[in-house]
Amino acid sequence: MSTRKPFVGGNWKMNTNRSTGPDLVRAVADGVLAAEGVEVCVFPPFPYLLTIRSILRDRGSSLRLGAQDCCHQRDGAYTGEVSLDMLKDCGVQAVLVGHSERRHVMGEKDELINKKLRRVLEGSIEAILCVGETLEEREAGHQDIVNARQIKTALAEIPASLVERLIIAYEPVWAIGTGKTATPQDAQEAHQHIRELVGRTYSPDVAEKLRIIYGGSVKPDNAPDLFMQPDIDGGLIGGASLKSADFVAICKAAAEAASAKRSREGE
Ligand code: PGA
Repeated sequence: MSTRKPFVGGNWKMNTNRSTGPDLVRAVADGVLAAEGVEVCVFPPFPYLLTIRSILRDRGSSLRLGAQDCCHQRDGAYTGEVSLDMLKDCGVQAVLVGHSERRHVMGEKDELINKKLRRVLEGSIEAILCVGETLEEREAGHQDIVNARQIKTALAEIPASLVERLIIAYEPVWAIGTGKTATPQDAQEAHQHIRELVGRTYSPDVAEKLRIIYGGSVKPDNAPDLFMQPDIDGGLIGGASLKSADFVAICKAAAEAASAKRSREGE
């Protein structure tokens, strides 16, 4: 467990503008200097990627730059889409794939998500595959079935060698932007099942190395308990990533949890 570096992503969604985005990223870049040993990545809207990248470069920041989506096709006549090569050209190092808003608002299906995931991983970029059940599915006790279906379809034809660049984000749809969070125990159980599934699909070693992060109304006050769970390796943060103080506090909680887990293991 101690070999997994925590990951915290700030998914800005369709928020910020030419002035608030730079302010936010400057404050985050300064604040996360105190969250040592955590991989922190921000996911600004497409039009601001280059601006944010130049701010990070000028500061020599280790903060990583991510994109919220990308097209499954390499290039060509796909009006309105953005290709992986374009994102790489803008300095993007990680891409969100299959976020619940893409699935449930924009109607993306598992098969399309598989194509996008292959495009990103084959393009040598880190991918954060988002999965999670709806409220109806949770109430029917189907969360594991839904997660397994989403993960198996997304990973079809992806070899173990590419899984090194994969992070899975478990984000129950009913917890996203609603203020409702899964209990640390419920989240841990889902993460453990996901890790077991990846172990059966690839190997126990691949599963042990895979980072599985939690998303859904993570805030500074609930982050410590979530991140202390053995199979929770960080978080994907929406609303709270727009407030630099909250986001930095969450990154620090990830650093503290990782160090507490290491010393617990060493005992
Ligand atoms: P939230 O969003 O933190 O606002 O619930 C999480 C996400 O959508 O990644």
